[in-house]
Amino acid sequence: MAKPVCLITGATEGVGKATAQALASKGFTVVLAARNLAKAEATRREIGATSGAKDIDIIVGDLSSLTQVRQMAETVQQRHPTLDLLINNAGIMAAERTLTGDGYESGYQVNYLSHFLLTHLLLDALKNSEQGRIINLGSSVYSMGRFDPGNLQGEKRFSAIGAYAASKLFVLMSTIELAERLRGAAITVNAVHPGIVNTHMLKSATGIFKLIALLATPVAVSPEKGAATSVYLATSPDVAAVSGRYFADSKPKPVKSKFNTEKNRALLWDISMDALRLHEPARV
Ligand SMILES: NC(=O)c1ccc[n+]([C@@H]2O[C@H](COP(=O)([O-])OP(=O)(O)OC[C@H]3O[C@@H](n4cnc5c(N)ncnc54)[C@H](OP(=O)(O)O)[C@@H]3O)[C@@H](O)[C@H]2O)c1
Repeated sequence: MAKPVCLITGATEGVGKATAQALASKGFTVVLAARNLAKAEATRREIGATSGAKDIDIIVGDLSSLTQVRQMAETVQQRHPTLDLLINNAGIMAAERTLTGDGYESGYQVNYLSHFLLTHLLLDALKNSEQGRIINLGSSVYSMGRFDPGNLQGEKRFSAIGAYAASKLFVLMSTIELAERLRGAAITVNAVHPGIVNTHMLKSATGIFKLIALLATPVAVSPEKGAATSVYLATSPDVAAVSGRYFADSKPKPVKSKFNTEKNRALLWDISMDALRLHEPARV
């Protein structure tokens, strides 16, 4: 039987790397999506040495470029026409409002929009799997995020925490919306809060995030523990048919946000589809 194939973004650090390590050890063909080839090759050597996996693949692309996301998706489809698992894990906490080359606020694009695009472009490959799974890395901070169609990217008012929280709220809302649109297909999609995890994200935090990281570090768990919920969702038969849920500590949790309404989810979906010029609905 062919080994299941898993693509994971942000696989060169922290939670993503620990997730890739665990899945390679569990017999997945792991595809490391990374913006830095040298770092990805070092990660491949490290994971290969500890897991014994010899078929770890690398796809290079920067999520702050939609062109590169499209190229990544094309390469994945060529090399892996059947994709069993997509883990949208990469993320940033941007202390300042900066724009990507595509003109989007960096956190909005890297955390949310590029993963929305990657997912959309890989749906056919996921549909080729007997049971595809999509896992989106959110954060419990989503509950502080606002869905304001006039200020989605902090164009009018920017706060670093507000922007990060909003990007994670959008990840969660689009997870629920996609699950709804994929109803009847053999693809599940769920969101994860990995916990407070001692990773590069905390260690390299700047601005307001530096203070938060200082307070959080003493209670932060290891990347391996942070990866546990993603690994559970990737592998457990218990969740093979569970979709559109938010998980933490390997358990489904209620979503607590007044912005998470059917109307807002549909609007966010339409805004994202229009921005990306994706006019084909993802419905099966
Ligand atoms: N750590 C926490 O306490 C925590 C809590 C809640 C949620 N999360 C979420 O969990 C996920 C993983 O976080 P982490 O703590 O493991 O972060 P991390 O250690 O900072 O790793 C982030 C990963 O994302 C990649 N990345 C960043 N920007 C990218 C871009 N423009 N294009 C492609 N890849 C990019 C990084 O690549 P490089 O190696 O090239 O930098 C790295 O591999 C994130 O979505 C984060 O928001 C983390």
